[in-house]
Order: sequence, then C-alpha cells, then structure tokens
Amino acid sequence: MLDGLRRLEYRGYDSAGVAILDPADALQIEKRAGKLANLEKALAEHTGLADGTTGIGHTRWATHGGPTDRNAHPHRSKDGRVAVIHNGIIENFARLRVELEAQGVEFLSDTDTECAAHLLAVELAAMEAADVDHGPAPARLAEAMRRVCQRLEGAFTLLAVDTHAPGAVVGARRNSPLVVGVGTGENYLASDVSAFIEHTRDAIELGQDQVVLITTGAITITDFDGNPVEGKKFHIDWDASAAEKGGYEYFMAKEIDEQPRAVADTLLGRHSETGEMTLDEVRLTDQDLRDVDKVFIVACGTSYHAGQVAKYAIEHWTRIPCEVELASEFRYRDPVLDRSTLVVAISQSGETMDTLMALRHAKEQKARVLAICNTNGSTIPRESDAVLYTHGGPEIAVASTKAFLTQLTACYLVGLHLAQVRGVMFADEVGAVLERLNQMPAKIRAVLDAMGPVRELAVDLAAAKSVLFIGRHVGYPVALEGALKLKELAYMHAEGFAAGELKHGPISLIEPGTPVVCVVPSPRGRSVLRDKLVSNIQEVRARGARTIVIAEEGDEAVVPFADHVIFVPPTPTLLAPLVTTVPLQVLACEIASARGHDVDQPRNLAKSVTVE
Ligand code: F6R
Repeated sequence: MLDGLRRLEYRGYDSAGVAILDPADALQIEKRAGKLANLEKALAEHTGLADGTTGIGHTRWATHGGPTDRNAHPHRSKDGRVAVIHNGIIENFARLRVELEAQGVEFLSDTDTECAAHLLAVELAAMEAADVDHGPAPARLAEAMRRVCQRLEGAFTLLAVDTHAPGAVVGARRNSPLVVGVGTGENYLASDVSAFIEHTRDAIELGQDQVVLITTGAITITDFDGNPVEGKKFHIDWDASAAEKGGYEYFMAKEIDEQPRAVADTLLGRHSETGEMTLDEVRLTDQDLRDVDKVFIVACGTSYHAGQVAKYAIEHWTRIPCEVELASEFRYRDPVLDRSTLVVAISQSGETMDTLMALRHAKEQKARVLAICNTNGSTIPRESDAVLYTHGGPEIAVASTKAFLTQLTACYLVGLHLAQVRGVMFADEVGAVLERLNQMPAKIRAVLDAMGPVRELAVDLAAAKSVLFIGRHVGYPVALEGALKLKELAYMHAEGFAAGELKHGPISLIEPGTPVVCVVPSPRGRSVLRDKLVSNIQEVRARGARTIVIAEEGDEAVVPFADHVIFVPPTPTLLAPLVTTVPLQVLACEIASARGHDVDQPRNLAKSVTVE
C-alpha cells in the first residue's frame, strides 16, 4: 500500500495515512501530517500492521481543515468500526455535521470527510437493527455506501472498510476519479492506475455515481440505486518502470528528457497513406466538423498555455475563429455556444474539475466537445464527443513538461484535421506540416543535448529577486509558461508578458540586473515579429536588464543584445514552442534545485486538481 501511495503522492502530499484490518478484524490506523516519509517512519514503529491483507491508504491535498495529523485520512466512525478516505469536497458537510452532532457524534477533525465515516456507521447500525436481510457483511457495507452517497453533495471518491466485513473494501465515485485494478486473488481500488501497476495492468473504469465492492475474488459494481452495472475493462499499455525515476535525480528531469519520445508517440500512427488523420475516439461525423464555425479552447495552467499556442495554429490553418479561455472562468461568463461550436478541452490528467465543469457547461449548450488528454479512461475524455490522447506516458512531477509538449503536438494535429476535413488545406499541405512535425522529436533532442550552459546559468540566476519573460506571437504563451514553471518550482516572482505590452506598464519593473528571458521568433518566418522583439530586448537592456535570449541557430544578429544566448534549431514559426519551451523548463528545474526546493513536489500544489 505504501508503494501505491508513493506512486500517487504527486496528487497531494500534505499528509498521509492508512487503515488496515488486522487478522483479529480490528482497525489499525496510522496517519501523519507532511510527506509520506513521515507516515513511513510512524509505521516502522507500529507493530502488527504487516499482518493485515485488507486496507485503505491516502495522501491528502488539504481542502477542509489544515494539513495536521488530526485532519489526515483515514477517518474513523464514532463506534470505531468504519474507516473512510476521501478525495473531493462534500459540499453539504456543514449541514450533515450539525445533524450528526445532534445525535451525539463528537467530531475529531475539521474535515468534511469525517461525516461520511459517521454516516456509514449510522446506516450500518440502522440496517442491522431493522433486521432486514441485506446479505452478508460486505454487501451491507456497499448498501450503506449507496445510502450515504444519496445524501452527499459535491465531488467525491470515497473508500471504506468495516471491521464487520473483513476482506472487503467498498468505493464510491462522483466526479472524482476511481479505477479498479483486477488481480488474481487480489483486487485494488485507486484514483490512478499507477498505484497498482506493479501488481496488475488490467483495470476497470468506474462511471459517475457508481459504487464498487471488492473482495479478493470478486468485483461488484452498481449505481447509487443498487442496479448492477458493467464496468468498462481496459488494459494499461505501460509498465511500472515508466512511473519510476530510472536513475534521474527528479521525475521532472526524466520527463523533460523523455520529450522527444513523448512527442513522437503523440504523432505515431496519426496519418494514413491517403492523408487522413486519425483521432483516438470519434463520436462526431466529418459533417459535424464541417459545421463548426467557432472553436473555444478551455484548460487550466500549463494546458491553458498549450491552448494559447493552439489558437495561432488553428486560426491560421482552419480560418475558424478560435478563443482560448481559462476553464475556471468559462461557464461563469455565459459564453455564446451552440451546436456548431467546437470546444476543445485540454487536460493532462483528464480529471481537472474546472475543465470538466467547463466541458459539461459546453455540452449543456449543445456544443461539441473534443478532449486532448494524456490519461486513458479519465472523466474528461469519457464525457467528450471526440478524443485525441497524447500518449505521453505517466507524468509524475507536479510541474507539467512532457504533457505540455505533447498537448501542443495534439493541438497541431487537431488544427490540421479540422483544416483537412473542411477542405481548407489539401492532403499534400497537411502532409508537409506533418513532415515538419515528425522532425520535431530530433530537434527537441538537439535542444536537450545543449543544456549544459543553461544549467550553469540557472545557478547564477538562483539569487534573482524576480525574472521576467517576454515573447511575441506563439512566443508569448511560451513566455507565460516559462514564468509559470519558475513560480511554481522556485517560488520566485516571475511574470510573462507579450513583448509589445512592456511599454504599456510592466517595463517599470525593470531594475539594474533584472533577468529578462526573451523568446525571439524565427528571422526566417515573419521577420517583422523578430525585429520588433529585438527592439524590445534593446528597450529592456537600456534600462539595465540582464537579457537571456532564446533565438534560432544562425540568428547571430541577436548576440550583441544578449547577456546569455541559447540557440534552438531552426523551426517553422507555429511549431517553434516545441523547442523554445524546453530551455525554460530546464532553467526552472535547475533554479528550483539550486534553491534547495523539492522539484517534483512543490509546496501547496497537487498534480490532479479535482476541486473547483
Ligand atoms: C503546471 C501544471 C498545472 C496543470 C493544470 C491543469 O506545471 O501542471 O498548471 O497544467 O493544473 O492540469 P490538467 O492538464 O491535468 O488539466
């Protein structure tokens, strides 16, 4: 269980805990604030746990109640028989708590989760007192879970064990992820397959509002009303080694280095000899795509930056207006959507609640939804009309790197697909762009092979108070992404700007020595863009900035304006973010490491953000 939690720790690492049913069918609970290591230390001193074969474990990203031992999961019911872990937010917990307190329940934590443990115990006691035959103890636990779920509002994955039902774990899912791992003589439940990948690569997806009961030999799934449902089986096509550090100091370093392979995998098998492009799942007709008259891209964080790059490519190739919107804002401003709107939801995890809610809003307004996602079978692709999986393999470091590059690649593919279906680009034109895309893995590798000086520069920049990033055109979202990486990993003030905006305010931030990272467009493409950016570099230099310039190999004219120059291979303008982002990822990773931070698990963050 600890191995599983270690693999899931990236999802939340404020506290961790386990509850084990020991051979005497008693519950043993150990939980600690802080990283998993704190729990492991406590467990090392805890005797008797190793004998249990049924249990639940949790790593937490605090929502209700601070990250303390008391608030760590599992939570136990008042009568001590039930233990519960939970992801998500029980929105009506305050009301439920008042009700339970009126019945004499004393709460031991500040969490919303604890009420689920007490409610389960109340339901179990009521069922047992009513003397109605609900079957054996595990079936009763599942029935109690269904009853409790009917009363909960919000998003939740809940798992519970009951001392009266040894050898059984019951789970429930609404809006938060939960998958079943199918073993031989053993079964698993987890928010993510990486938790049990060491033991089995056969899994079952759970749908919304379902309850699952697992024992060593059986898996029973029902809806919240108790009607049996068939889960969707799938096989995981990567193995445990993909989720290991494999000799790298950090997962992030490994994932940065995996980018050439990851981008190649996103592109793999997309293009038939007749020039047709293939998505992974399509529940839309070509006519649906021909009818599209507006594209909205919704996403959060790094995925949003991928969407910002995609806007340039999609509008250029398809001539359809494209807007990019933060998923958390989208539905609240009442966007104009209809049947001919295509909403592209970009999400590495496929579980980001803000993006999921934006998607659902779009569907309610009859828009078509296409998901770009890295996680097979997750909620966002399941609820979309078409899916393009990025096939980037597991991303464990909290800061997104290979997910970003593979999302960019997938966005290009979507743009080309749309352009082709609508007849705006012919097969040979699409083929020519694809050929350039196919050259990108080698170019990304070339950038990675030249990162020595960037590492040295990082040590130098580690003491800076603030770092600014500027870019134009697709270099603007690259600047935003560079700044985000630095903020989240190095905890430094960092901001990205459209270079042309500097003179409208932000240039006053520049003090002597302020590092400014400048993403220079290719001189071969729209050279006017590049010339304007070079002017912006001179403007910041004139005010004392220290300039770190990312430019295309051969663009020697930038050298006199650069305190440090990082060259990347010549690349068509629209595809350039695939190479210009890479030095910024390495820079952030190395600065964070030089400042002594945990690169893979930056403070206050979680990999999969399943709350709004
Ligand atoms: C930043 C980062 C986040 C995610 C964001 C969306 O490095 O990883 O900003 O990009 O939380 O996550 P997904 O793509 O899973 O929806």
